[in-house]
Amino acid sequence: MKKKLYIKTHGCQMNEYDSAKMADLLKEKEGFELAKNEDEADLLILNTCSIREKAQEKVFHQIGRWRKIKEEKPDLKIAIGGCVASQEGKEIINRAPAVDIVFGPQTLHKLPELYNNKKKTNINQIDISFPKLEKFNHLPVKGKGEPSAFVSIAEGCNKYCSFCVVPKTRGHEVSRTIEDILNEVSILADKGTREINFLGQNVNNFKGTFKGEKSSLAVLIELASKIDNIERIRFTTSHPHEFKDDLVEVYDRVPELVSHVHLPVQSGSDKILKLMRRRYNAEKYLALIEKIRIIRPDMSFSSDFIVGFPGETNEDFQQTINVINEVKFDESYSFIYSPRPNTTASEMPDDVSPEEKKERLNILQSRLNQLSFGYSRKKVGTSQRCLIYGQSRRDPGQLQGRTICNRIVNFQSNQLDLVGHFANIQIQEALTNSLRGSLAH
Ligand code: SAH
Ligand code: F3S
Repeated sequence: MKKKLYIKTHGCQMNEYDSAKMADLLKEKEGFELAKNEDEADLLILNTCSIREKAQEKVFHQIGRWRKIKEEKPDLKIAIGGCVASQEGKEIINRAPAVDIVFGPQTLHKLPELYNNKKKTNINQIDISFPKLEKFNHLPVKGKGEPSAFVSIAEGCNKYCSFCVVPKTRGHEVSRTIEDILNEVSILADKGTREINFLGQNVNNFKGTFKGEKSSLAVLIELASKIDNIERIRFTTSHPHEFKDDLVEVYDRVPELVSHVHLPVQSGSDKILKLMRRRYNAEKYLALIEKIRIIRPDMSFSSDFIVGFPGETNEDFQQTINVINEVKFDESYSFIYSPRPNTTASEMPDDVSPEEKKERLNILQSRLNQLSFGYSRKKVGTSQRCLIYGQSRRDPGQLQGRTICNRIVNFQSNQLDLVGHFANIQIQEALTNSLRGSLAH
């Protein structure tokens, strides 16, 4: 009987990409197949996130639940990977002895070896080192024909924003070569993928080489757009400081590049941006948005926001609202600041009360929802060319696609052969974060 594997993923898209790679690798090297649920698994993997405090606490709750399964099934192995693993290392096993393996975001390719060592020796395995890009030489590249696929192009981050753990947990920034990435894109395209989403923590600082010379994200996008069947290109997450003119200009030349970008501003106050060490001020950020909008007037922008950063006054917060009103962001993410271990912000005096932080978050989120709903409403009555992703999760009688501005569109249809293709959808109804429509004839 085949060994069974169950992977649970917390956090960002990079983690989702890594988890999919772990599954491919363990299938190929160890003959694992995916378990339907946790109870039938021989190996349980948790790919963790440590971006905020709650994310970290979730890890130990999850291990607690898995420990109960292990009590009934002593051969079961539990492996913890991702950013909490990278941050805590062997402390994870000290606190949760049910864990057998701890690995980091850069050592996931060693999972088969760590798993076999543990089985053979019964000694717990810990490897949270940062061998540069080594994992990409070991991970299988498999096209599964998904309409939209992630491709990781750079790992780690050197920006050291004062609030962020990523540079510590994922290590220094390294870029894959353009040849290596294009090879992966071609394999995906051959299997039916139509949309590529390039991933990196600071993706527009990509510096991979092409024919041995240091290159850029702009060059990579242009080359990828020429690959047959690649009809849409996204990239995430961008840093405003690194969004240089050559990247802005690609919007003019490459129609495959979608009219949506996630460009986290975090705050609209120059004082707070400086304390966050973001390397831009509100004026520069707004000028960049303007530059992109001149080339692509229908461009939609989304952002991440942190409220209640140490020292944030009501006036600082108001400046964030002003930036929101100016840019008119579409769907965005917002968080209450959470002090993280080994970050400079965690040592800054924080005199904003938790109640005040919550209130600011509510005000900010309701404004963002209003704007998002406004975007949706404007689309009612239009016809939108959508890439069809698959059946709607809530209602299998409906299909789901995305517009070029990244809006989800649901429509009644049993035509499964539309999945992976483009279709024109007549938009009839607006919801805050999605649209409803019908297939245009
Ligand atoms: N590389 C991306 C962000 C990665 S983390 C960038 O350049 O912006 C994703 C988001 O989590 C961040 O944009 C930030 O808004 C939020 N975040 C990160 N650290 C946080 C913290 N300590 N407290 C609250 N939110 C945080
Ligand atoms: Fe974090 Fe800033 Fe890098 S938010 S991932 S340190 S760009």
